[in-house]
Amino acid sequence: MNVNIMNVDYSTKIPNNVNLSADRQVLKALEGWHPGYIDWWQDMGPDGFQQSLVYLRTAYSVDPRGWAKFDYVRMPDYRWGILLAPQEENRVVPFGEHYGEPAWQEVPGEHRALLRRLIVIQGDTEPASVEQQRHLGKTAPSLYDMRNLFQVNVEEGRHLWAMVYLLQKYFGRDGREEADELLRRRSGDADSPRMLGAFNEKTPDWLSFFMFTYFTDRDGKMQLHSLAQSGFDPLSRTCRFMLTEEAHHMFVGETGISRVVQRTCEAMKAAGIDDPADVNRVRALGVIDLPTIQKKLNLHYSLSLDLFGSEVSTNAANAFNAGIKGRYHESQINDDHRLQNDTYPVLKLVGGEIVRVDEPALTALNMRLRDDYTQDCVKGILRWNKVISTAGYDYRLKLPHVAFHRAIGEFKDVRATPDGVLIDDATWSRRKDEWLPSRGDGDFIASLMKPVTEIGGFAPWISPPKVGIDNKPGDFEYVKIET
Ligand SMILES: [Fe+2]
Ligand SMILES: [Fe+2]
Repeated sequence: MNVNIMNVDYSTKIPNNVNLSADRQVLKALEGWHPGYIDWWQDMGPDGFQQSLVYLRTAYSVDPRGWAKFDYVRMPDYRWGILLAPQEENRVVPFGEHYGEPAWQEVPGEHRALLRRLIVIQGDTEPASVEQQRHLGKTAPSLYDMRNLFQVNVEEGRHLWAMVYLLQKYFGRDGREEADELLRRRSGDADSPRMLGAFNEKTPDWLSFFMFTYFTDRDGKMQLHSLAQSGFDPLSRTCRFMLTEEAHHMFVGETGISRVVQRTCEAMKAAGIDDPADVNRVRALGVIDLPTIQKKLNLHYSLSLDLFGSEVSTNAANAFNAGIKGRYHESQINDDHRLQNDTYPVLKLVGGEIVRVDEPALTALNMRLRDDYTQDCVKGILRWNKVISTAGYDYRLKLPHVAFHRAIGEFKDVRATPDGVLIDDATWSRRKDEWLPSRGDGDFIASLMKPVTEIGGFAPWISPPKVGIDNKPGDFEYVKIET
């Protein structure tokens, strides 16, 4: 059995590398869930293009050196499967009260509720983003971008399968109920919304999509990394494989924003515009001005920060103590992995001022993960700014202060500028359109969202990518649209 773990069994209806054909009960539960999933995909997955042939990658192995195969697939025929990274021999719980004990192959009874909740929350985000992005195919700036959107969508669908497998295999009846609920909630629905705020927001245009995949999928990356450390081994193995797929989602975001910035700079240069803040002149060129890109960045970064929860959190401490959710790169951190006497600096609001306070490291774990996230975010900003400076402009994109535009945590009740200056409500109302996309900004971007479906063509507001997917040439037909 272990020899075959790298390869995926495609003989069952549900492709897998967990030997489902010998696990009748779980196979039956998953087969029972499958029609509801397909119904959900038809109702809430990409709007249109379901009969188009899309050049997608499908996982056929979990070997990090080569796990994907590219081919034309109709999205409803995509082989959503259950794929776990190989089991590490003699793996131990890498942190918390059970540090050093053998990792669990079954759910530890005392932590069952906590574990189930974390799996459900992670699972809920996966279909949510598909729902948020469902209308974007119709305005794709190229077949290349359309293909990337659909790749992200089918993989988020697979991530839902990944969490549903854990629920159905390890949590019995209430796991099955939770699996059904994951298909019932809807992003942005008034009565039955998705569980987390950012996943109920709209993704109105392609710039938002790129920001979402850069900033919000990156929150997903951080959460998956900390769950990949889990002492509950099946969760760890599931998340480790999901991370290999997730990397492409953030690539789509990073290169997407980079291409928008590139195109704007080229157009400004060609028109002899020296001041990137000359918004009207830049927009007249049919490209997105840098200040508007900054506003979109401010919005998506601040929404994504909220996903980390309160800076100081006993839930986070409990999940760590229990050995369920670790830190980013836990096993590479050089400490006792128990954090009983450690502290961690947290930005807090004290007497109307933002100050750094040392908190017990255990309760500050959300803050720590968020700091790791911010560091990870900075890398893309540096690359985008390189594009701007290479074009000869001294405009710089930057991350807003963590107190800016927050709905969760220390700063949820105050108003702050992107530089972190606290301001009153009146100032906020007067100036917020300088910092967040206004209705007018949204209307302008929407006016650019005209689909381009010619092979090798690109909308005039975005540059072509440097290289194609799977090394395909620029004139490759990534989506064969049905007529
Ligand atoms: Fe995902
Ligand atoms: Fe993702």
